[in-house]
Amino acid sequence: MVKVLVVYYSLTGNTKMIAENIAESIDSDILELKPVKELDAESGMKYVWGGFQATMKQKPKLKEFDINPLDYELIILGTPVWAWTISPPIRSFLSKFKLSGKKVALWTCSGGDGVRAMKQFREALKDINIVGEIRFKEPKQYESDKAKEQARVWAKKLIEKL
Ligand SMILES: Cc1cc2nc3c(=O)[nH]c(=O)nc-3n(C[C@H](O)[C@H](O)[C@H](O)COP(=O)(O)O)c2cc1C
Repeated sequence: MVKVLVVYYSLTGNTKMIAENIAESIDSDILELKPVKELDAESGMKYVWGGFQATMKQKPKLKEFDINPLDYELIILGTPVWAWTISPPIRSFLSKFKLSGKKVALWTCSGGDGVRAMKQFREALKDINIVGEIRFKEPKQYESDKAKEQARVWAKKLIEKL
């Protein structure tokens, strides 16, 4: 069996919902990234500060975790789209762990189509073997059962292909 880790960041629960469905469907480990200083998900100011952080490609300090991502062969990595790009905690993760030699699959959650952010996600992982990608549009809000099923089917296919 291939060792698989689902890694994600989520401020308002969309990416979390997808992460949990993926991990459950393929029985993988799961790691939620949490910045030491989190934005207030309830406040409209999150768009200002979060948008600024993302645009500046900031890498906020993450809370400690005891999983070692380098122990895994496939990492399924998910982020919300912030200011047309990937979220800052994902940048922190990518700068902390060099994923060369790993297989990586990507998903995004966004308000819009997420195409530009997915391109940036791939660019942030250049020279890494990207084995799949999928985009979700506000999956908690719209057709959430369909999105969950899509995530599960996608994850199972990823594993079958390995
Ligand atoms: C700071 C911030 C910036 C955002 N910028 C974008 C954007 O540029 N394009 C987009 O489609 N959605 C944008 N969104 C919407 C989120 O990508 C979307 O709500 C996503 O589902 C949130 O995922 P989460 O619930 O896991 O945090 C932004 C949200 C926040 C908080």
